[in-house]
Amino acid sequence: MMNVSWSAPSNIALVKYWGKKEELQIPANPSVSLTLSECKTTMNLTLGSSKEKKLVVLFEGKEKPSFIPKIEKFLSLITDELPFLRDYSLTIDSENTFPHSSGIASSASSMAALALCLVDVEQEILGNKHQDFFSRASYFARIGSGSAARSTFAHAASWGEYQGLGHDQRAHQVELHDQLKDLRNKILIIEKGEKKVSSTVGHSLMTNHPYAQARFKQAVSHWQQSLELLKRGNWDELGPIVEREAMALHAMMMTSSSSYMLMKPQTLSAMERIIAFREKTKVPVYFTLDAGPNIHMLYPTSCSVEVEQFFNDQLLELCQDRKFIDDKVGEGPVKNAV
Ligand code: PMV
Repeated sequence: MMNVSWSAPSNIALVKYWGKKEELQIPANPSVSLTLSECKTTMNLTLGSSKEKKLVVLFEGKEKPSFIPKIEKFLSLITDELPFLRDYSLTIDSENTFPHSSGIASSASSMAALALCLVDVEQEILGNKHQDFFSRASYFARIGSGSAARSTFAHAASWGEYQGLGHDQRAHQVELHDQLKDLRNKILIIEKGEKKVSSTVGHSLMTNHPYAQARFKQAVSHWQQSLELLKRGNWDELGPIVEREAMALHAMMMTSSSSYMLMKPQTLSAMERIIAFREKTKVPVYFTLDAGPNIHMLYPTSCSVEVEQFFNDQLLELCQDRKFIDDKVGEGPVKNAV
């Protein structure tokens, strides 16, 4: 019996990964994200010798057979590289800090947590320490869910290669100026529940998308600028890029061959109110969106008082059941005592 436990955070992309190359989970363009602090998955992995049931998956302590196919597929993809998986039965027990149906994607934090557990077990079995532990975990996390590759590092991470810079197979931590380490992320839950078109389908619609090449070129340019601005701590120039990225991501969905829309009327209202508030007050608050209707508001801690007031006056009423999450830039994954 072996038992390990890791907590891994979610992340919010500033420059979005949207579209894959033909190989396994290789992004069509590089992306960069902030690591979150509060939205995370804690996972316990137990390896046993039982030959009867090879894989048991629990969520919040209850068996979840519906999670098994995705995890089985993931494990089958990595077994050649982690051959010990053939010799053990696995019990995976996880929980999220955010509600399951909050519309917050859990695949990044959960796949990162699973990859960290697996690399930790590998290390224990082989009896040597991996120099590149978090990078190796990022590599496996990526195979589980692309954006999970960016969840094994503190502060900010980049994933994807362009002209010899960065890597397609794994993410790496990028320099974040101290001033941006206090960025806040208030998540407005505009609509709870599963999104109606999965990211997998969304990525695939970028193949043969009429605007794909222009989008990938824009993403590369935004990525290059963002890495520099993160390093210099220039939020005033980075914020507009972040908003443009959110718009571009959703524009791709709306203009794909089978077009769809994930924004809701409340999403649009929130976006308009944030822009109007910023223009009027000069408070540097910007928004971004994932592949869903929820709004991620990003702003420096020094503006918290003004933003809280604005949020309570104008945005809270747009949140479903007045639900929101207060998050911020985080310190990356943590190994738990077992
Ligand atoms: O990792 P996936 O396949 O769920 O794709 C994530 C896509 C976005 O969240 C929209 C963008 C990103 O880079 O995280």
